[in-house]
Amino acid sequence: MDLFSEIEEPEREELKRLRRELEEANYQYYVLNMPTLSDRDFDFKMHRLQELEAQFPDMYDPKSPTQHVGSDLGKKGFETVRHKYPMLSLANTYSREEIESWVRKLPANVEIVCELKFDGLSISLWYENGTLVRALTRGDGVQGDDVIDNIKTITSIPRHVVGTPSSFEMRGEVLLPWERFEALNKEREEQEEPLFANPRNAASGTLKLQDPKEVARRGLDAYLYYMLGEDLPGTTHFERLNTAKQWGFHISDAIKVCHNVDEVMAYIAYWDTERKNLPVATDGIVLKVNNLAQQEELGFTAKTPRWAIAYKFPAEKQLTLLKEITYQVGRTGVVTPVANLEPVQLSGTIVQRATLHNEDFIRSLDIRPGDHVWVEKGGEIIPKITGREERPTPDPSLKGGELDSAPDTLPFREGLGVGFPTVCPECGAKLVRVEGEAAWRCPNEAGCPPQIKGKIEHFVSRKAMNIDGLGEETIDLLYQKGLLHNIADIYDLQLGDIAAQERLGEKSAQNMLAGIEASKNVPWARVLFALGIRMVGETTAKKIARVYNTIDSLQQADAEQLCAVEDVGPQIAENIVKYFEDSRNLDIIARLRQAGLQFEGEAAEGPQSDKLAGMSIVISGTFAHHSRDEYKALIEAHGGKNVGSVSKKTSFILAGENMGPEKLKKAEALGIRLMTEDDFLEMIK
Ligand code: IVH
Repeated sequence: MDLFSEIEEPEREELKRLRRELEEANYQYYVLNMPTLSDRDFDFKMHRLQELEAQFPDMYDPKSPTQHVGSDLGKKGFETVRHKYPMLSLANTYSREEIESWVRKLPANVEIVCELKFDGLSISLWYENGTLVRALTRGDGVQGDDVIDNIKTITSIPRHVVGTPSSFEMRGEVLLPWERFEALNKEREEQEEPLFANPRNAASGTLKLQDPKEVARRGLDAYLYYMLGEDLPGTTHFERLNTAKQWGFHISDAIKVCHNVDEVMAYIAYWDTERKNLPVATDGIVLKVNNLAQQEELGFTAKTPRWAIAYKFPAEKQLTLLKEITYQVGRTGVVTPVANLEPVQLSGTIVQRATLHNEDFIRSLDIRPGDHVWVEKGGEIIPKITGREERPTPDPSLKGGELDSAPDTLPFREGLGVGFPTVCPECGAKLVRVEGEAAWRCPNEAGCPPQIKGKIEHFVSRKAMNIDGLGEETIDLLYQKGLLHNIADIYDLQLGDIAAQERLGEKSAQNMLAGIEASKNVPWARVLFALGIRMVGETTAKKIARVYNTIDSLQQADAEQLCAVEDVGPQIAENIVKYFEDSRNLDIIARLRQAGLQFEGEAAEGPQSDKLAGMSIVISGTFAHHSRDEYKALIEAHGGKNVGSVSKKTSFILAGENMGPEKLKKAEALGIRLMTEDDFLEMIK
């Protein structure tokens, strides 16, 4: 190896590392809906990767993240369809200088349309002869998933239009309005389901649901901003959007034609403030060349148009003093480090507490009480710490190397009084950290106050046992008085005990007891959800209860059998098995049974047979006798599992008319049997 290649080596390593990091970030963002990198960090890394790839052309790789947009394909149950026109993303800019540099590359006296950059997920709507026929997600930019049934729940998207060309495409952004996002998260919090980090993730998770009714309930909205097709009206983008508005499409009013960078900057300055009053999330401005002929001339790079760019608003953040780190124990025992801050104004509210996520986060940024830290709110509900300022270096004139202006800062380490606690701050139990998880947990489920109270709050919540009159404060009070220690104690509460409490009285005691009595009729699926088995949310509980229609049959199931239930993976299965292994849980169940709760479902809800037990079955195509949903239910009722994609593990494919070509090809390649619906019905008869 000569000297030069040795010098180049670290940069080649950096290039490979960046490709891996960006690939992973794309997966986290598009597939898991759990972003790990901020947009800005992502852009900087992407930019650096582009630089390095230009420097080392021999390392060209068509699979590099610089060559394709991130992909959310692979969600089961949707048909993947090729886009007529690739769905590209936009290059991002962050400053006036970058905008000026873009404008310099455009023809002189160009008109620039400024629009809001909506922060949701892009959608491509195809209209044929005036009817909405497809609604594709961006996918990998080349092909997307058809989510038309979910899109049809959005009332602002017309299903039929008149006076339009016979075939055209509208692109836009699907969004969950702030109000709906907050309501959804509140509901999820009550049910101990993981919260969505921001409205974009919530919209993305919602659009990929297999249940259009639930999608409709959540209340998505959409704004359209781009028309494509042949023989379309108009010679400018602005005209086209106005035409689209007349056809009935939801087009934002905040669109302006600008003639120079000053006008663009004035638009940006106005909307950077005004956007806070909008019902939906925006994260920047999109600048587009207005004239369509000019657009065509400018064309595209591999990933983005040259005729449009995005300008991203700076995230709202503030620098403030970290006074102290405290630790909060959640309902499931997770211990979260909380930054107690010198109060600061952020997005219209005063922030004095922010999450520090977990121990690894604190260590990686070396955050210590006494530091000045950056706090951000962004789209997230809980403010978070995103960084810290450099500490002043010790003044050598002070003896002993003392820190001159930050005397409180000590490295974050156990044993120094500022490290992550080793025991639970609420109950003193030794904390545990499951391998592979970032969180420390208090394992003392039955004896740790926030966990005890949290379990009871979950049990009585609306979607579980729905016991009126037993709110958070009352639970706390009855817990303090020694009347409530677990969910079974609820059914031992006596009128006199409750009424004797100040703040409660006879009337509310009677209401509470009536609510407790009524809860005895709550159906088995909700009782199962109410038990609070980790990761068994409302929907999963319903699916389990449909297959296991008594608690006894569920208790006898092993992990492998449980995995045959839709939505139940190895982790949930293990949680269920463990739950029934704990004798304290069995005591509670025995007492609840004694109290008269429903531990059995309708016979029809249970498995009708185990003819398909252990089988993974793919459904593809259209059918004559039953709908796809009915076939899905039949598979589950006979102990099988319906899966979305064909793999080695697929037992057979229930194949209808017009089976998807990709699935067919894969089935042939793997030698997987296709079964007609008649044969299938015969099999389960
Ligand atoms: S135009 C070829 N206009 O931002 C250009 N995109 O970061 C097509 N977006 O993928 C996009 N608001 O999902 C355009 N007013 C707007 C937009 C917008 C939001 C999204 C879109 C795009 C992403 C790029």
